[in-house]
Amino acid sequence: MNELEKFYPIKESAKKHSHLDEATYQTMYQQSITNPDQFWAEQANEFLDWYKPFDTVSNIDFNKADIEWFKGGQLNVSYNCIDRHLKDRGEQTAIIFEGDEPNDTRNISYKELHVQVCKFANVLKQRGVKKGDTVCIYMPMIPDVGYAMLACARIGAVHSVVFGGFSTESIKARIQAADCKVVITADESVRGGKIIPLKANVDAAVSECPGVHSVIVVERTGGNVAWNNDIDVNYQQAMAKADSVCEPEVMDAEDPLFILYTSGSTGAPKGVVHTCGGYLLYAAMTHKYVFDYRDGDIYWCTADAGWITGHSYIFYGPLANGATTLVFEGVPTYPDAGRCWDMIQRHKINVFYTAPTAIRALMGIGDEYVLDKDLSSLRLLGTVGEPINPEAWHWYYEIIGKSNCPIVDTWWQTETGGILITSLPGSAGMKPGAAGLPFFGVQPVIIDKEGNEQDGEARGPLVMKGSWPGQMRTLYGDHDRFHKTYFSQCAGYYYTGDGAQRDKDGYYWILGRIDDVLNVSGHRLGTAEIESALVLHPKISEAAVVGYPHDIKGQGVYAYVTLMHDEVESEELLLELKALVAKELGSFSKPDLIQWAPGLPKTRSGKIMRRILRKIAENDLGTLGDTSTLADPSVVEDLIERRLLR
Ligand code: WT7
Repeated sequence: MNELEKFYPIKESAKKHSHLDEATYQTMYQQSITNPDQFWAEQANEFLDWYKPFDTVSNIDFNKADIEWFKGGQLNVSYNCIDRHLKDRGEQTAIIFEGDEPNDTRNISYKELHVQVCKFANVLKQRGVKKGDTVCIYMPMIPDVGYAMLACARIGAVHSVVFGGFSTESIKARIQAADCKVVITADESVRGGKIIPLKANVDAAVSECPGVHSVIVVERTGGNVAWNNDIDVNYQQAMAKADSVCEPEVMDAEDPLFILYTSGSTGAPKGVVHTCGGYLLYAAMTHKYVFDYRDGDIYWCTADAGWITGHSYIFYGPLANGATTLVFEGVPTYPDAGRCWDMIQRHKINVFYTAPTAIRALMGIGDEYVLDKDLSSLRLLGTVGEPINPEAWHWYYEIIGKSNCPIVDTWWQTETGGILITSLPGSAGMKPGAAGLPFFGVQPVIIDKEGNEQDGEARGPLVMKGSWPGQMRTLYGDHDRFHKTYFSQCAGYYYTGDGAQRDKDGYYWILGRIDDVLNVSGHRLGTAEIESALVLHPKISEAAVVGYPHDIKGQGVYAYVTLMHDEVESEELLLELKALVAKELGSFSKPDLIQWAPGLPKTRSGKIMRRILRKIAENDLGTLGDTSTLADPSVVEDLIERRLLR
C-alpha cells in the first residue's frame, strides 16, 4: 500500500479518553465553517472570562488585511490564566520546574504564581512601564520567564520574547524594532552544563539602544556580571520589596498581547503581533482538544519560551485551561540521552510535545536510554516544527508510546498563533508524516499556478480561506508589509508560505517552505540575517545562504562566501566565519558548511539565483534549470567544481 493511504487507527483506550469522536469533530467542524460567528461566540464564552461581552464576533477583510475578533469585549489574559483558577485550584501545581540539573526541581502552585506575577507587575510599574509599552524578555527557561510574560499581560504591556539562544545583534535589532524601553534578563543561563552570558549579551546590545532605561536582572547562576546602577535592577531585591496586590488592567480584546519576531525570506525579522482575546481563546481551545487535556493531566512541551510554541503551549494555552505545565531549563542530552524519558518517569508526564529533530537525535543514540524507564504515564505524544519522517514517527510511536499513544502532528506557524492542522486524537487515524485535518474554523486551500482553488487530491501552495481567532493581526509598525507578505500573493486568502499535498482522505501533507526561509531543527532562520552576519567580516565581500538536507536538523545551513580582492582562503578563516555568526546571531544559526565562491550566480539585474545555489548545495545537478539568463553563466561551473557534498 502507498504511504499516503496507510492509516494507523487510534487505540480504543485513547478514543474513549478523547473529547471528540469522529462524528462530533465532523459536526462541530461543519458548524464552525457554516456559522463561524455563532460557533466562536459560544467558544469565547465557554473558554474565557470577560469583563465586558464583545459587540461583534469577527470583522475580517483579507483584501485590506484587517482582522478583528471579539471587538468591544474586555478581558485580561493574566486574570484568565491565573486569578480565575484560585478559587478551585489555588493549591494545584501550575508550573513544574526542572532545572538543568535533574535534582533541581520545584512546583509552583497557582496561588504562588499569582503572587509572583502580581509582584513582578508592580516591579514593572515602578520602572514606569504602562499599558501599551513594549518590554523585551531575554531569559533562561525558568519559571520567571512565565512570570515576566504574565506580569506584562497583567498591566497591559506588550512583551517581545527573544530566544535565549540568540546573541547580541539579534537582541539589538529586536529591541530597536519594537522600541523596548525595558529589558528583562538573567545574569547567565545554564544549559547542558554550559553557561550562556545573557546579561553580557544584553549589555552589548543595550549599549547601542539609547531608549532602554531599565534592565531587570534575575539572578540565576550568581555569576559575575557588569553592573550599571543607572539602568540595572536586581530582580530578587525588587521582588522582595514589591507589593503582592496588583489589579489586572482591563484590556480590549484587540489590544496587543505580544510581539514575536520571526524570520522572513528577505529583510529584517518580522514582528508578528497577537492580540489578547482571539489569541488566548485559540491557544486554550487547541490545547484542550488537540492534546485531549483533562483536569489532573501533567503536560510537558519541550519548546523554549522564545518561540511561539513556548508562548501558546507552555504558558498561555495550558494556564488558561488550569493545567499543570512543565518548564524545563536544560537539553534532552544532558546529563545523558535518557533525560526526557527520566523526566517523564519522575514527573509522571501524560502528554509530551516535542520536535522531530529531537526525536531523530535521541533515536540515533539508541534505545538503551529508553528501555530502562517507566513511560506508562504517557497517554499522548505530539510533534511540531517540520514534517516528521516515517522512521522517526515509528520510533516515537513504538518505542516511546509503546503503540498506545496517539501522535498528534501539529502544523502551524508563529503567524497562526495556534495549531491549524493536525490529526485529532479521536479522529479516523494517523498517517505517519501527514499533519492531518483542519482544526475548527480552519479552511485550508491548495491553489494552482493561476491562484485558483483546487478540489480533491491536490498539490501546491497552501493558503487559508477565512480567519480564525488566533491569527496574527499585523506586523509591528508595518501593516503594509503585513499586507504584502501574507495577503497579496493570493488575493482574498492568507498565504502560508508552505507547499502542501491533500490526499484522497482529505489529509494534509506539508511539503515545506516555498520561499527562502530555512527550517533548521524546527527553527525558522532567515537567510538574510546570516548573510549580513557573514559580510561583517572584513575579508568577506558577499555571502549567500541556502538550506540542504540534514539527517538530524532537517535542514542545515550552507553558505557561499566571496572573499575581498587579494584575500586568501584558509581553514582558519572558515572557523572565524562560523564563530562570527555564532557571536552575532547565536550558535544555532552557524553555517554547517561554507563554500568559497569566487562568484555568485546573478541575474543581469543583480539578483542572486538561489534556486541554482540550492541545487549545487544539495548536489542535485541534473535539474539546474535554465542558466542562460545569468550575467555570467561560467560562475556556475566553478561552483559545481567546488561543491562540498557529492
Ligand atoms: C513553519 C513555521 C509552529 C511552531 C513551530 C515553528 C514548519 C511547523 C510543522 C509540521 C510540517 C511544519 C512550516 C511552517 N512547520 N510545524 N507539523 N509539519 N511543517 O513555527 O518558526 O513560525 O515556523 O514551520 O514550514 O510554515 P515557525
